[in-house]
Order: sequence, then structure tokens, then C-alpha cells
Amino acid sequence: MGVTCVIGLQWGDEGKGKVVDGLCREADIAVRCQGGANAGHTVVVGDRTSVLHLIPSGILREEVRCMIGNGAVVDLDVLASEIEQLTGTGLRVTERLMLSERAHVVLPIHRRIEAATEEILGDMRIGTTMRGIGPAYRDKYGRFGIRVGDILSVDTLANRVRALGRVNPIAGDSPDIVEEMMAYCARHLEMLKGVCGDVEHELSLCIARDERIVLEGSQGFLLDIDFGTYPYVTSSNTGVHGLVGGAGVPVSSVDKVVGVVKSYMTRVGSGPFPTEMEEPYQSLAREAGREYGATTGRPRRCGWMDLNALRYSASHNGVTSLAVTKLDTLSCLDTVKVCTGYQHSGEVIRTLPARAILLQECVPMYENMRPLGDLAGIRRLGDLPPAATEYVDMLLRAASAGLELLSVGAGRDAVISAEH
Ligand code: IMP
Ligand code: MG
Repeated sequence: MGVTCVIGLQWGDEGKGKVVDGLCREADIAVRCQGGANAGHTVVVGDRTSVLHLIPSGILREEVRCMIGNGAVVDLDVLASEIEQLTGTGLRVTERLMLSERAHVVLPIHRRIEAATEEILGDMRIGTTMRGIGPAYRDKYGRFGIRVGDILSVDTLANRVRALGRVNPIAGDSPDIVEEMMAYCARHLEMLKGVCGDVEHELSLCIARDERIVLEGSQGFLLDIDFGTYPYVTSSNTGVHGLVGGAGVPVSSVDKVVGVVKSYMTRVGSGPFPTEMEEPYQSLAREAGREYGATTGRPRRCGWMDLNALRYSASHNGVTSLAVTKLDTLSCLDTVKVCTGYQHSGEVIRTLPARAILLQECVPMYENMRPLGDLAGIRRLGDLPPAATEYVDMLLRAASAGLELLSVGAGRDAVISAEH
């Protein structure tokens, strides 16, 4: 027993929600550790599709307790509506959910700052989800952010909120904003009293009891604030470092790191994307894979598998096993290409360069693969067409990892597990 980290190895939307849901069959606790309502984790159970933004995907399994850790930034409006929506489907939610008092709150001012910042950046804008994530983390590290626990300390809250307004002149220093933020805090006070707790202490007790904990990553490693394609990244550490730090668990408690990799690449928003597909494959992949943002509805940019990116993400996170998702989507394409390295200034590069501008200039070197064949009904490894096996083996070799599972459809049962 111990801690399993689930990490997206691309630019998000790898299918982490479904993988976490599967791993939670054998877990006691699921934790969201970083990011906030920028995430959209889609899980299909029977004929019901749930999109989770803040609450861990483990909530869909009644026996799993769910926590939101210190490293997350929490929009309380989104949390309240997510609790209401999930409770409406018959799940017990507040009884099983604990929110860290150390987590920071995304306040109405943060969405406004973000809209103003993106506007000022013009064609240099990041193309964010507009959920206030960057400004909330900026205030956290500036040390004038509001933590969940601050809202419970009603007497000192107003002073802190006023200070937050003053240090963010870009949003306008009007009493209205302060009033709006105070009203926001007040309207969620009762909810917070019901779900707040010392998540970090609780997790240390769970580890001592040898319970199985799943840390659910959000966004992907290529969007990591340090290791991603900066500045076209999100504002948190999305890899194993962010998960451990955002849940407050010891590094030594982690015994498994599952890397989730989609069988092709996608990205939403601005930033370099060397293997972006040309038409008609761009549209074919987008339609076959329903590649539209679960949070913003934006069409996702689609691209061929990038082994440079996979090697980079897998090695920096110490991935022990791979969950390969949406193989059935790739099998809709009659041409399959894979990028095995980049060329830049006459040199071959086999990792991800640190500078986004350099990555932008890289020319992918492609290898043609055989079309994968029809995979939709397959549930056993031995029944895979040889071309699909070859494709998966290539990914495992690049990641130097074993196989966790293959996903060949949206539903819970559309999985080929490593044991079969
Ligand atoms: P932010 O996280 O809203 O600040 O957005 C920064 C970048 O990360 C933008 O390119 C977003 O499209 C991207 N991003 C943020 N969250 C997700 C996600 O959950 N899936 C995919 N892309 C995301
Ligand atoms: Mg998503």
C-alpha cells in the first residue's frame, strides 16, 4: 500500500479522469493536488457522463474518500455547484469530501485580472481557460492570497481582502470589488465549515494505516510551470513534484507513478506544437476523438505522437507504468505518423528544448506506422492487431515503463488491462 501518482504526460486531456476512476476501484482516497477549475476530467459511467473540475474523479465510487489538497486553487462557486450537481445524481459528496484549509481561493478579482492581463498581452496571450488560475497563484506566492482557512477566520478576513484589492490595481481599487469578494466568502462560509479539514494531517494518518492513496494530476506535464513550454503553460507544477507538494505527502510514500499518454497529441490555447497535424488529419482526429475542451468548449489542436515529449515527461516523473488512452481514435486514421526526434540547425534533438522559441523552430522527424486496425471491441492484449501492439510497444520503450492499461473507448469497461 502507498501512494500512486497519476500524471498526464502531454498538454492535458490525456484521459486522466478515466484512469483515476479505474485505479480507484482499489483505492481508499483520491486527492486533487494542484490547479483548479481549469481542469475538466471526463468520466463516463453507463450512460452518464460526468465532467469534474475540482472534485477528484474518485467521487464517482462511493467507497472512496476524496480530498482537495494545499496545492490546489479553489473557486468556491464552482465547488458549490459541483457538490450540488453530484449530490443531485444520488452520490454522497460532502460526507466524503475534505478540502484543505491551506488551499488558496480563486476570488472574483482573479478572473478579472486574468481577462485584463490576456487583453494587454494581445497576440502574446497564453490562451488560458480564464478561470483565474494564474492570478490566484500569483497572489499565493506574493503572500497576500486568501486561503480557505482565512474565510473561517471571519474577524480578520475583511482586512486581508481589502489588502488583496489594493495590491491588484489592475482590477481597479474600487470598494465594489472588495464587497463582491466579501459577499463571495460569506455565501460559501457554511459550505466550507462542512468540508474543511486538515487534509495533510489526515493523509499522514492514512499513510500510517497503510491505505491506498491516488494523487490525481491535472493539466499535463508539458503545461508544468517549470518543465513545460513556458510561458505557454499553466501556473502550477503538474508533475510528480506538484502532486507530492500539493498533497503534503512524503516523497518516500510514492510507490507507483502512472503516466497517462493519449495515442496522439492535443493542445488547447497558444504555444509551440511541433507535431501539429495538417488537414485533413487535424479535423479527422478532432471529430473522431471529440477533441473539444471539457471546460471551455474550445476546439483542441491535434498532432501526431511526439516521442521526444513522451521520453521527456516519462523520465522527469519517473513513470513506472503507462496508461495509453484513445487508441480507438487513432485507429480511425488510415495514416499514422510518429515523431522520433527533432531537427534544429542541422542537429538532431531527442529531448524537449527549454526555450519555447527553439521548440517552435524544431522540425519533427517522422516515421510512418501501419494503421492500427479496428480496436473498439477488443478487451484482451492478445487480441490486438499486430500494428496496434507494435505502436504500444514503441510507446513503452520510449517511456521505459511497463503497461498499466490501454483505453479503447469512453466507457468504464472499454479497457484492456495489463493482466489480460
Ligand atoms: P490556465 O491554466 O487557465 O492558466 O491556462 C494556461 C494554459 O493551460 C492554456 O493553454 C490552457 O488551455 C491550458 N490548460 C489549462 N488547464 C487545462 C486542462 O485541464 N486541459 C488542457 N489544457 C489546459
Ligand atoms: Mg481535460
